[in-house]
Amino acid sequence: MKPYLAALIGATLLAGAALGSSQAGAQGTSIFTSAQVAAGAKTYAASCSKCHGANLEGVSAPALRGAGSGLAGDSVSEAYKFIATQMPAGNPGSLSSTEYTNVMAYILSRNGHAAGAAHLTPGSASKSELKV
Ligand code: HEC
Repeated sequence: MKPYLAALIGATLLAGAALGSSQAGAQGTSIFTSAQVAAGAKTYAASCSKCHGANLEGVSAPALRGAGSGLAGDSVSEAYKFIATQMPAGNPGSLSSTEYTNVMAYILSRNGHAAGAAHLTPGSASKSELKV
């Protein structure tokens, strides 16, 4: 094998290892469960999607994921407090606290965060400095 090829393969393996460990890190900081994501997907479809889009892409309201997301750079605590007090627009505060935490879990999942063992609560959501 030519030396440069070996170096290339070595670099690729290293990058793969780094990616693997950063994914493990993301799982280590998980703050919501997959059951919350599943329930939140239903609440989102019923109460949020008509303005924010079925795919969170934004329609009459800002996108909630990807490039141009209104939540880019926001912490979970900022996002959660805004959602729980201001959304759904036109009927703010109309969902239960369980529905708000579930919808927050769903939005985090759609932004690439992994579910885990921890259950998201209004208390933990209001304190979390995790970036959406
Ligand atoms: C009737 C339309 C409508 C519905 C339904 C609605 N929103 Fe919104 N939402 C808006 C509009 C318009 C804005 C932007 C205005 C503002 O920031 O107050 C917004 C802003 C937001 C933001 C802040 C985004 C940013 O750019 O800062 C979040 C987060 C959000 N909505 C989440 C939700 C969630 C979660 C639901 C469902 C529980 C929901 N919205 C339901 C219209 C809606």
